[in-house]
Amino acid sequence: MAEFLLNAWYVAGWASEIEPGAILARRLLDERIVLFRKEDGSVAALHGLCPHRMVSLGMGKLVNGAIQCGYHGHSFDENGVCVHNPQGAPPKTMRVRPYPVIERHSMIWIWMDEASRADPSLIPDLSFQDPETAYVGKGYLHVRASYILEIENILDLSHIEFLHATTLGSSEVSQGDYSWRQEGETIWSQRDIIGEVMTDELATSMGRAIGEKVDRWLHVRWNAPANLVLFTGVVTHGRPKEEGVENPTAHLFTPETKNSTHYWFSVPIPKAAGPQGEATAQKKADWLKGPFTDEDVVMLEEQQENIGDRDLRTLKLGWLPGDAAGARARNVLYSRLDDEAAEAAANVKA
Ligand code: FES
Ligand SMILES: [Fe+2]
Repeated sequence: MAEFLLNAWYVAGWASEIEPGAILARRLLDERIVLFRKEDGSVAALHGLCPHRMVSLGMGKLVNGAIQCGYHGHSFDENGVCVHNPQGAPPKTMRVRPYPVIERHSMIWIWMDEASRADPSLIPDLSFQDPETAYVGKGYLHVRASYILEIENILDLSHIEFLHATTLGSSEVSQGDYSWRQEGETIWSQRDIIGEVMTDELATSMGRAIGEKVDRWLHVRWNAPANLVLFTGVVTHGRPKEEGVENPTAHLFTPETKNSTHYWFSVPIPKAAGPQGEATAQKKADWLKGPFTDEDVVMLEEQQENIGDRDLRTLKLGWLPGDAAGARARNVLYSRLDDEAAEAAANVKA
């Protein structure tokens, strides 16, 4: 069984990571990929190995808008065509696979299979972090755990009471309401915490008075394969939600390999709130990185180590009501994986 959905948009990096004149090499879905900006500023993605002797194109450099391999100097343009051969005419058969790629919502999105299916409208809506209208605090973590475990981590936030007891959680979390729903292939996981006193740090970060009793909601949206948004809202205890403030944070996961994951997270602040938002957004992202690194990543890497190479799809696990959204997300994912596998099998027969 294939490990990854191929006909889907994955995050390949922050748009700001791909600087003009530089090559970014990254392993995505167990494939070597290189990304770079074309002369018009738009981004291109190619398979990351030179077809001549399989060295990493990331070790080369950009020359006249094409990647020049660092070994024998053959150059490949944005379409993967060999455009320069230091020893003679560029060989037509030596090509590198290009991938559809789009810059949107401050991220670079890559489509790992059939280019004809790469419909930009399938990219989930993260317009709250468009660089034109928002300052975006940026975070990245490399996690030695499957992206499936990451999805379940964000879709079941009951863990914040225990794993994040002194940072993001409180003792009222488990007393809150939990619900989930499915809209097409979008899954929502909703946790509403009533009459909570947040940790001092969290209250400060959310602009609330220390010790204040609040109602907090944590509503998570999941889109396949592993693009999630957490809408966190807070209001004075007992007051209607409309009086409160809600802020989104994106949690975007792309498998590096079966058991390791790239994790990009954001804290956007609308530019309309004033120029001080730029520093505040990054400060908040840096603060969140603490509990994500010291608490979630530690737990997930330990969990993955215990699971080892066993197949998560068939592994027997306990299922609680709070796992409902995660279970639905897995169903959507697995059914699409099955469809891709059936299609690949039919193509082999044809
Ligand atoms: S390995 Fe790249 S040009 Fe030879
Ligand atoms: Fe967490």
